[in-house]
Amino acid sequence: MTARGDRYSRGAIAFHWSIAALVLFNLIVGLFHDAMPRAWGIMPIHKSVGIAVLVLTLGRIGWRLTHKPPHLPELLPAWEKATAHTVHFILYALLLILPISGWLLSSNPERPRPINWFGLFEIPVLPATPGIAHNAHEAHELLGYLMAALVAIHIAAALRHHFILRDRVLARMLPGSGRRG
Ligand code: HEM
Repeated sequence: MTARGDRYSRGAIAFHWSIAALVLFNLIVGLFHDAMPRAWGIMPIHKSVGIAVLVLTLGRIGWRLTHKPPHLPELLPAWEKATAHTVHFILYALLLILPISGWLLSSNPERPRPINWFGLFEIPVLPATPGIAHNAHEAHELLGYLMAALVAIHIAAALRHHFILRDRVLARMLPGSGRRG
């Protein structure tokens, strides 16, 4: 376990922004895919991106367990720290549950749709029953909305720290120079 610094490590920053970009893409595609022409073939990309998020999240959790994040500012009220930690914990859980529920819903044995990962190789379907796939579909939809709401709160909180409280909470997650790896 590396020591606690005043900002996130380079690895944590790389995981954060790559996952953030992929999740934003998948939320937009997921929420608006009905309005997108089928010819775009966007859902296979949604699935491949979702699997990439799952793998990156497992990497990020491994990184998080071995690299301590910086403390939140001392002056922040206890309720704000508790809220931040709760939102972060739920986001981690959703980063795992959303891709797995998507994978399960695509594994419905009544109409299995194997995932061709960006056209490179095939990812096998999971051993789901129609009931499990149906529940996974419901969960994927519901948790997609929850994820969108939490991401909006998370972004609003980061902007509030930067522009209103004027502390370093956002800056320490931005790629910077001369910092520890
Ligand atoms: C970060 C990962 C993911 C996010 C944030 C995400 C988000 C979403 C959202 C918001 C929807 C729209 C739900 C609705 O209103 O119907 C959706 C739909 C869908 N997602 Fe995902 N998803 C992710 C990963 C995956 C994965 C890994 C798969 C499959 C391997 C997948 C397969 C699908 C499918 C097939 C639909 C369409 C369901 C339908 O037609 O009703 N998703 N996703």
